[in-house]
Amino acid sequence: MFDNFPLWPQRASTIAGNVDALFIFLLIVTGLMTVLVFSAVIYFAARYRHRRGVPAEQIEGSTPLELTWTFIPLAIFMVIFAWGAIVYFKERTPPRDATEVYVVAKQWMWKLEHAEGQREINELHVPVGQDVKLIMTSQDVIHSFYVPAFRIKQDVLPGRYTIEWFHATKAGTYHLFCAEYCGTQHSGMIGSIVVMEPAQYEAWMSGSPSGPLSAAGEKIFAELGCATCHRMDTQGRGPNLLGVFGKPVQLEDGRTIVADENYVRESILDPGAKVVQGFKPVMPTFQGLVSEEQLNALVAYVKSLSKPVGQPSVKTASGQEMAPKAPAKGSQVE
Ligand code: CUA
Repeated sequence: MFDNFPLWPQRASTIAGNVDALFIFLLIVTGLMTVLVFSAVIYFAARYRHRRGVPAEQIEGSTPLELTWTFIPLAIFMVIFAWGAIVYFKERTPPRDATEVYVVAKQWMWKLEHAEGQREINELHVPVGQDVKLIMTSQDVIHSFYVPAFRIKQDVLPGRYTIEWFHATKAGTYHLFCAEYCGTQHSGMIGSIVVMEPAQYEAWMSGSPSGPLSAAGEKIFAELGCATCHRMDTQGRGPNLLGVFGKPVQLEDGRTIVADENYVRESILDPGAKVVQGFKPVMPTFQGLVSEEQLNALVAYVKSLSKPVGQPSVKTASGQEMAPKAPAKGSQVE
């Protein structure tokens, strides 16, 4: 009906309908309130207008009336709060087993790298009907990854990872915008999300010869000499990284944290920040020595050391084949 007069962008993700429903509810509530308030203003202005010879009547307040206009709005606001929280948590919580794509923003472009190794600039190809998790960081200033058709938007910050996810429901090409002013060519920092049918996507994927990102990470891990300390046994000067990702880690200062992307990243750039219990802060920082892309590859590699059974076995930095059952305990999320 609204084909030539679109009031909303296309809905192309599972969350889009949820966001729109809440938005429409807010529109209706605020619209009704506006009509109510202005009708009352006009009615009272006429009804209680100044009349010659009629003295003003003093009204001393009414408890039932005040309770009514306190509790009805409170109830409406609580509905908005609860509904908003539900949609928010759904949108903020990436499902397990989502396909992962690493995003590096810079002035003024988007660099995307699939866990399978495909690299893209300002374009992201994804299959329809699959959960996709974006692990995003920036090389310079704050950007924002915004796809109106999916109703998702998330700031992309330098120095840390932020996460967003979507599940595309319709094949097509959708706008990608940078939604945070980031310099002269901010408005040109645009791209597209190409949602493809699974078969098409398979064909597109097989067109690229590059190996998985984790393999690139493994190579960097070996080149930087990480493997000399992070050995695959208990004799290393650094913790064994097998099965660590997604698991709680006991720290030297008594805290327990979960090993997520940001933890791995921080441990590479600022190794003294969170030292694992039983180890000394002897690791040097790699700040300035690894690029954002190399960091992503290293994170993907550490993650691959915790893949559940069924995933292809991974090789250690020394070239030794590890049995897939060893890291099986460290299935990604608990
Ligand atoms: Cu990047 Cu605006």
